[in-house]
Amino acid sequence: MPKRPTSSMSWERTRSLFPVTREIVYFNNAGVGPVSTRVDEALRRFAGEATRMGAFHYPRAFDAEIERVRARAALLLNASADEIAFVKNTTEGLGIVAAGLDWRHGDQVVSCDLEYPSNVYPWWSLRDRGVETLMLRGRDGRLPFAVVEEALRNPRVRLLALSSVEFGSGARNDLEALGGLCRERGVLFCVDAIQSVGCFPIDVEHCGVDFLAADGHKWMLSVEGCGIFFCSKRVQDLVTPRIVGWRSVRNNLDFDTYHTDLQDSAGRFEEGTPNTPGIFALGAAIDLLLELDLAAIGERVLALTDRLVDGLRARGAEIKSPREPGEASGIVSFEIPGQPPAETVRKLRAEKIFTIERRGGVRASPHFYNSEAEIDRLLSALD
Ligand SMILES: Cc1ncc(COP(=O)(O)O)c(C=O)c1O
Repeated sequence: MPKRPTSSMSWERTRSLFPVTREIVYFNNAGVGPVSTRVDEALRRFAGEATRMGAFHYPRAFDAEIERVRARAALLLNASADEIAFVKNTTEGLGIVAAGLDWRHGDQVVSCDLEYPSNVYPWWSLRDRGVETLMLRGRDGRLPFAVVEEALRNPRVRLLALSSVEFGSGARNDLEALGGLCRERGVLFCVDAIQSVGCFPIDVEHCGVDFLAADGHKWMLSVEGCGIFFCSKRVQDLVTPRIVGWRSVRNNLDFDTYHTDLQDSAGRFEEGTPNTPGIFALGAAIDLLLELDLAAIGERVLALTDRLVDGLRARGAEIKSPREPGEASGIVSFEIPGQPPAETVRKLRAEKIFTIERRGGVRASPHFYNSEAEIDRLLSALD
């Protein structure tokens, strides 16, 4: 397969890796994505080895793959492998930051009312440590940069917690501009990136991201329960792991010498036995994304969502998603005048077209393996 599929034939070939396309029109990649045959094979490889040999080949069969996947995950973000920890979900990654920073009474976290609860509650839970969370108000589904700029004038702000793409409206935040602002103001930048990793390129180094978390089950097209947490080397020592276990420390295969010298890497945030089958699956999923090229995937997803938006507008639908260049994403939220979103979702479901209702709109989220014909099927189902 070419590194950067440009012809529709190339994308057509990727469809064959997703048997779900033979069953239904799957437009809920922003909810839980389906897995490819590659991921299925990786899970079988794990299960086969565990079934036949148990842990007999442990270092070769399991540990080597875990470290390979860590390096692949790092490549996805332009990070280094020692800045990546495996976590069970996005919330865990964000929670590691919230629980581990040395908060001072009066510190402020800035977030916004467009965020999914995983990027709100960890910060609200710091109230009893004297940390206030300022919830900026989104406007028309987006958070204007000027609003963040104004909020960060307050010297009490320690951390900005935002998503790369807002889960309801699909507005893509400008991580480069926000990261630059944070650097300028000496504010930590923590990104919930589950709605973009696997769909758009992301460069944590270039954008000055300090922390990032993303579970694998949406745009990365892996299974639930295994995601990645990035902690920049710059700030690793600012976060104290609140759960320290055998795996958090150096020389962690020496079980006879007790000590709590933490690993000199994000591995310190992995306290015990990892989710090895989840990591096998994630590895196969990330390999496919890297093979296809994230920039090409992003272009493909924008082309599909543009087609959807054009077709919806032509049918008089209200588009709730910001769609200006730079703010469009893989999420299209819309409403058919006079029809409650839940009813539209139900009607589409009856036609085997999978969308979902979120924040008062019908949310459709196609990925690269979806086709133009499927977009047209959704549109004609609305007629
Ligand atoms: C922006 C965002 N963050 C986080 C999550 C889920 O978090 P977790 O991986 O902890 O389940 C979702 C799920 O819909 C989401 O849309």
